[in-house]
Amino acid sequence: MRIIRTVAELRAALAPERLAQRSIGLVPTMGALHAGHRSLIERARSEHDVVVVSLFVNPTQFGAGEDLAAYPRDEAADAALAEQAGADVLFAPPLEQVYPDGFATTVHVAGLSEPLEGAQRPGHFDGVATVVTKLLNMAAPDAAYFGQKDAQQALVIRRLVRDLDIPVRIVVCPTVREPDGLALSSRNAYLAPAERERAVALRRALDAVEAAVAAGARDAAIVAGAGRRAMEPYDVEPEYLALVAADTLAPVDHVEGEVLVALAARVGPARLIDNTILNANANGRP
Ligand code: PAJ
Repeated sequence: MRIIRTVAELRAALAPERLAQRSIGLVPTMGALHAGHRSLIERARSEHDVVVVSLFVNPTQFGAGEDLAAYPRDEAADAALAEQAGADVLFAPPLEQVYPDGFATTVHVAGLSEPLEGAQRPGHFDGVATVVTKLLNMAAPDAAYFGQKDAQQALVIRRLVRDLDIPVRIVVCPTVREPDGLALSSRNAYLAPAERERAVALRRALDAVEAAVAAGARDAAIVAGAGRRAMEPYDVEPEYLALVAADTLAPVDHVEGEVLVALAARVGPARLIDNTILNANANGRP
């Protein structure tokens, strides 16, 4: 696996591949790679001749007072995991390659960026949308791979690709979890052992929501209430637990069609998110 630091080098490395009709898959990451990232890289490996993993802790998607400085960084470990998972190139640019002096452009996806994570983290999705647009322009991949764990992010990216006519296929991969159900996240590293045990509250809430719908509940407030109650024994309070339309993120009153249940909660120093998609008929049959 080759480690590349500049956009010019990346383009030089990929141009002959493209010329030879070899397909390119891109997996954007902020490092601290875990089995969730690995699943994306392996999926890209299985579908492309050339696999590029990008590693860039993007400052513009962190708000003031968020964990940019503390975000775990270990390039050697990330390079080892990426290579083992099948990456051909690790693109790890320094800050000035991505944001040169005078950088002045922002990609803003109206609507989809506003609720849920967007409401809790103002400007977050502008940072994500801008850096992902840039990474897609730098690598010009045939496909780019993202995780369903960040469901709103995946929707924002699908929309910007459509709206800006970026010729890339967006692939969204299932959430990889610990055996107890906790979604893998680079931020799980912040959890002390007692907090790690409480962090399962998020998945337990989603379990309770799924069980309520399987038992016939369709009223969104009742279904959300079942999720909230399931978190109480863990002493974890949701920042939000919302039932929204899976395509528009508009709040729903009833579970009908594809409904995204999106959840965020603070556990100790870590801010964690998770989600599930409900797919139920309105008539009470799951
Ligand atoms: P990062 O948090 O490093 O995640 C990189 C990719 O891995 C994202 O698409 C994310 O959804 C996916 N991922 C994370 N945890 C996962 C899990 N448990 N199962 C499956 N996939 C998982 O998301 C970002 O970085 C950044 O916002 C980025 C898109 C790179 C832009 O800076």
